[in-house]
Amino acid sequence: MTRQASSRGVYLAEVAANERLCSDHFVLRLPVEGFPPSQPGQFVQLQCRRPVEREGVRVADWPEGRPPQLTQPELTGIEPLLRRPFSLAGHSQSGQTAELEIIYRAVGTGTRWLATVSAGDYLSVLGPLGNGFGVSDHKPLAVLVGGGVGIPPLLYQAERLSAAGKQTVALLGAGRADLLPVRTTGDVPAEPEPTGCVPRLAEIGVGSVIATDDGSVGFAGFVGETFERLLDAGEWPADQLVVYSCGPEAMMRAVGDLCVDRGVECRLAMERHMACGMGTCQSCIVKIRDDNPAGWSYKLCCTDGPVFDAADIVWK
Ligand SMILES: Cc1cc2nc3c(=O)[nH]c(=O)nc-3n(C[C@H](O)[C@H](O)[C@H](O)COP(=O)(O)OP(=O)(O)OC[C@H]3O[C@@H](n4cnc5c(N)ncnc54)[C@H](O)[C@@H]3O)c2cc1C
Ligand code: FES
Repeated sequence: MTRQASSRGVYLAEVAANERLCSDHFVLRLPVEGFPPSQPGQFVQLQCRRPVEREGVRVADWPEGRPPQLTQPELTGIEPLLRRPFSLAGHSQSGQTAELEIIYRAVGTGTRWLATVSAGDYLSVLGPLGNGFGVSDHKPLAVLVGGGVGIPPLLYQAERLSAAGKQTVALLGAGRADLLPVRTTGDVPAEPEPTGCVPRLAEIGVGSVIATDDGSVGFAGFVGETFERLLDAGEWPADQLVVYSCGPEAMMRAVGDLCVDRGVECRLAMERHMACGMGTCQSCIVKIRDDNPAGWSYKLCCTDGPVFDAADIVWK
């Protein structure tokens, strides 16, 4: 399917690879012909079931005067009817074909089904959706703070920052070593000091710090603590730094509050339960500061976000 650049659309993709990355995470590679240019921080909605385009259209059996006989798998099967949102972890282009990378954690009905998909299977992809992180024109320093399934969009953002000549450090955290959705060298320091311990990032000149809650690899502690320590070390002047973060809400709130307190610009990629991903269902609201009498209004994570300035978010 060929589409005009910059429009979003629904695409049928033949899976190139779907491989286990660690105990719960998988990396999915999807060549998608005609997929528009995307921005790091944007996401796609994947249908976690065999696409109806491959199965043919089925018509319900609805005899006159009797209730319909629902036999279509999309109505009667156990696979989810609604698509699931996933950030882009990478997007490379070869002619008209985009290769999308998605890193996901198998946590429920849809993602466990996704983990059963093999090369040669087909998936329906809706995207690209949302606004993306952007890159600050004026500030030369960037810090990425990612936790768990929040790490994938930061890998894509690291590429964009590196290409823009920003001096970038990635702080990546997980509960324990086998839940880290990124490959590391065997040499990960226990101190929060940036090294080349994540080859994918080292190749593009981005140093990394690994933190795990249980200390099974890297620094023993939350990734937010790592960020605070390094910020306190004073090597990143507040007026030259932009922080980009994605991960569990408690982590992003801690990182965002710290940045607001220290006068550091901070962009957070929020995650919400999303039914449509396109601004229709209103299921993905985020409270954002506003000039109205209440002091805030609702924005939609899928179309106004998912990336918001930390200073604008009302957490309660
Ligand atoms: C913009 C955006 C980008 C995302 N990017 C990624 C990504 O790159 N990699 C990745 O692994 N996951 C990502 N997620 C989360 C992913 O969408 C959910 O894990 C997925 O929808 C779960 O589907 P499921 O059918 O397997 O789980 P379900 O069976 O629907 O639910 C299983 C469990 O997961 C919880 N859950 C489901 N969806 C969410 C959600 N959106 N936020 C918090 N908890 C949820 C449910 O409450 C439940 O406890 C993203 C979510 C959003 C909104
Ligand atoms: S997910 Fe439907 S409005 Fe945002």
